[in-house]
Amino acid sequence: MANDRRPDDMVRITTPELADAFIEEQIAALKEQIGDKKVLLALSGGVDSSVVAAMLIKAVGQQLVCVHVNHGLLRKGEPEQVIEVFRNQMKANLIYVDATDRFLDKLAGVTDPETKRKIIGGEFIEVFAEEAKKLDGIEFLAQGTIWPDILESEAGIKAHHNAGGLPEDLQFELVEPVKILFKDEVRIVGERLGLPANMVYRQPFPGPGLGVRCPGAITRDRLEAVRESDAILREEFAKNGLEGKVWQYFTVVPDFKSTGVKDGKRTFDWPCIIRAINTTDVMEVTVEHLSDELIDHLVKRIISEVPGINRVLFDYTPKPPATVEYE
Ligand code: XMP
Repeated sequence: MANDRRPDDMVRITTPELADAFIEEQIAALKEQIGDKKVLLALSGGVDSSVVAAMLIKAVGQQLVCVHVNHGLLRKGEPEQVIEVFRNQMKANLIYVDATDRFLDKLAGVTDPETKRKIIGGEFIEVFAEEAKKLDGIEFLAQGTIWPDILESEAGIKAHHNAGGLPEDLQFELVEPVKILFKDEVRIVGERLGLPANMVYRQPFPGPGLGVRCPGAITRDRLEAVRESDAILREEFAKNGLEGKVWQYFTVVPDFKSTGVKDGKRTFDWPCIIRAINTTDVMEVTVEHLSDELIDHLVKRIISEVPGINRVLFDYTPKPPATVEYE
């Protein structure tokens, strides 16, 4: 493609007009690259892949095939939103695969964090490859690679994993329409393409999902406690004007229990840890201090609404020494 590298003199996309011009240019380039062939996209519902999907729907419509793999570790409401936005509203060709049982069965009893990550990543590629093999005539693979991915990969900071991993017999030509954009530019472009604000401006979410917030061996009941408490936290942050202001906020449910009391009876349940942090580069993070009222309200909601939780703790540790995620 012509725009393989970000030109040194490229103006930062900060306005709707600049975003519209970029979209128009990219759509023309995509039409030329793809012609009447088919394109495959792994659509996670994250910002980058969602923007790529929206762009390709505009450029080639039904020639795009999106595959959304639900690994069972997504946040509450996420797979539903992907289906609603892309299949129902944008009329995309979307294959939804609920692979929850497959992932959770493979992860059962696995306690080591790196092994968990490897299982999740490996299984994801396998499920995606299986779906790809069922399809005929796919020549292109679209990816939400962005400019920092390329810079970090060139600097040896992190491997650029997007393209890797698919089996030998599944090699496609790549389509990477947001490859020269920084994250803030991807967000503006996404907005102009009509994606909902809560999709475009969402906080970072790790690929292994809630799996790294359910430390140790993942069980379905503890995973549900993470998912439900995370949903309450997100709802309360949105209501209190903190959504989009705090970099990242989530809950963790560790694998130990403590004694409590409810309705005059002894309980023996998990604690729920709340972590809310701010940063610019994620190398160093500071803790967001919440108001006493919000803390009281969060504690009350989580202990009364989330089964299996009898205690709420706050993580006030910066990075370093603590990383953002627990695994
Ligand atoms: P840590 O825990 O390393 O996190 O301080 C820094 C940022 O990276 C996110 N993160 C990940 N993102 N796959 C991802 O896509 C991962 O495996 C992963 N691990 C951590 C984390 O949420 C934080 O924003």
